[in-house]
Amino acid sequence: MIVHLFFRGFPELADLVLQASGIAKSFGGNEVLKGLSLDVERGELISMIGPSGCGKSTFLRCLNFLEHPDAGSVRIEDVTVACTGKHWSRANEAEAHKLRSHVGMVFQAFNLFPHRTVLDNVMMAPIQVKKMSRDEAQSIACELLAKVGLAAVKDRYPDSLSGGQKQRAAIARALAMKPSVMLYDEPTSALDPELSEEVLSVMRALDDEGMTQLVVTHDMRFARAASDRVLFVEGGEIVESGDPDLMFANPQEGRTRRFLRTLL
Ligand SMILES: Nc1ncnc2c1ncn2[C@@H]1O[C@H](COP(=O)(O)OP(=O)(O)OP(=O)(O)O)[C@@H](O)[C@H]1O
Ligand SMILES: [Mg+2]
Repeated sequence: MIVHLFFRGFPELADLVLQASGIAKSFGGNEVLKGLSLDVERGELISMIGPSGCGKSTFLRCLNFLEHPDAGSVRIEDVTVACTGKHWSRANEAEAHKLRSHVGMVFQAFNLFPHRTVLDNVMMAPIQVKKMSRDEAQSIACELLAKVGLAAVKDRYPDSLSGGQKQRAAIARALAMKPSVMLYDEPTSALDPELSEEVLSVMRALDDEGMTQLVVTHDMRFARAASDRVLFVEGGEIVESGDPDLMFANPQEGRTRRFLRTLL
């Protein structure tokens, strides 16, 4: 976080791990994203907030091309994917595949494989995608499961875990691919407050280690306390972006003010 504040003062020195530019997306006649641009510095924790249906999930999905944008480009590390018009080519898909190897994604609904143990869930992608040996994958998976507090349940099946444990397993699984950026879509909104806290504290610990994280969340307390930066999205645009304390205490835009007021 300190490094991040330092670079803020010297933008030419900033280490931008992700740059999205002009991301646009319509579904039929519904223009959901109107050309969103976002630069993310290495190590930043950014919370994205906004009303239901404003396009937060769609934007997150466009960043790793689970959804194909109609226009715009995304660069993550040394991979750039640019969309021109509605045509999505084989070359686009090949680049998107490379780009995804730098991204870990965590969903509200965990999406663990139910017929695999927690350990297997975490080991699978490194073995299948990175062709890692079983021994190496297992040692990395055990280390990650210990880090998220799940060493004791590594041989259990997802159905026997609490929601908070499932989500921490999903985070460990994403981390096993050594991503540069973690994207979370409402990682705690299916959880009780106590279980949410277990997940949020893992995200805070990752922040302390320097992981870059972009989190769509309805948890304003987390957005304010843990983020380096908050983005308020409405009507398919980033309306306001800035320091969490400043934005929550004194939003600059009327639309941000109205949204925050509805939450009180
Ligand atoms: N595959 C799709 N086909 C058609 N419309 C879609 C599709 N995905 C999303 N939309 C529409 O795009 C808009 C934005 O949806 P999105 O899920 O991105 O919103 P959101 O900000 O994540 O909302 P929430 O806070 O409720 O999760 C909504 O009007 C939604 O109905
Ligand atoms: Mg959503």
